[in-house]
Amino acid sequence: MAKLTVLTLMGLGLALFRDHRSSYEERLNAFREVKPVELPNCNFVKGVEAGSEDIEILPNGLAFISSGLKYPGIKSFEPDKPGKILLMDLNEEDPAVLELKITGSKSDLSSFNPHGISTFTDEDNAVYLLVVNHPDFKSTVEVFKFQEEEKSLLHQKTIRHKLLPSLNDIVAVGPEHFYATNDHYFIDPYLQSWEMYLGLAWSYVVYYSPDEVRVAAEGFDFANGINISPDGKYVYISELLAHKIHVYEKHANWTLTLLKVLRIQNILTEEPKVKLVYAENGTVLQGCSVASVYKGKLLIGTVYHKALYCEL
Ligand SMILES: *[C@@H]1O[C@H](CO)[C@@H](O)[C@H](O)[C@H]1NC(C)=O
Repeated sequence: MAKLTVLTLMGLGLALFRDHRSSYEERLNAFREVKPVELPNCNFVKGVEAGSEDIEILPNGLAFISSGLKYPGIKSFEPDKPGKILLMDLNEEDPAVLELKITGSKSDLSSFNPHGISTFTDEDNAVYLLVVNHPDFKSTVEVFKFQEEEKSLLHQKTIRHKLLPSLNDIVAVGPEHFYATNDHYFIDPYLQSWEMYLGLAWSYVVYYSPDEVRVAAEGFDFANGINISPDGKYVYISELLAHKIHVYEKHANWTLTLLKVLRIQNILTEEPKVKLVYAENGTVLQGCSVASVYKGKLLIGTVYHKALYCEL
């Protein structure tokens, strides 16, 4: 009898494990087949070989690209080189990238590991670039001032905070003011993988300013990309493993209220809720993480691989 009970319990445990594993695979979209959707005129961006995880395009067509991300469990083609910020002028016929020099007080450039980036332009047209950085796999935000003539980034400040433990993406709303996603609640990689595997949905979004830091939204199954509408009224947060985009209204006091949740579904059918403009199964680009549009052209970046520039 006791043996039977143990066997039953083991069976039940195994069934639960199987069930959990299949939902985990579903959250990761592990078995989705990708049918290609092509664009007429695509070229690799020369000079991008080891990632273009995030891209930010200024209204004048200058694009910042964060390159060389090292992230636990993700491939790197340049594991021994620090990351860099690249600049690309989308007004050029066949734009190439150049590496922005980093100047000022930033001393530990060998551990520079840029992830999400965002720009803020102040009333005097000074451009600030805010960069999520992972020196030694920790999380900081580096504030730079863009020196367009010198093609360099002047380091202003490093921001660390206990509410910024596992940063992924950022959207700047001032020179030292931003919303940022924490893709995990924990800092420890072992606890992070359990958090993700169990689907705890403890990932959250923080509002940061020099005077005030607070949780702005929480309960995400891996909060990933974050952005703001051009008029500054709405904040968008992508929830990676739930395949959802959350739309928030931003108030004058910087709090966010949820307006709606878009489930990205039926994208490969005749009646998609979102239009698919480009799809590819990994032979051209691996690990796509960002896409941005400038004057009818689409710039697509990847976590660790190349970048592609296409006519829409
Ligand atoms: C922020 O503003 C919103 C909208 O005016 C209001 O509902 C909310 O109570 C305010 N929250 C705080 C913490 O001040």
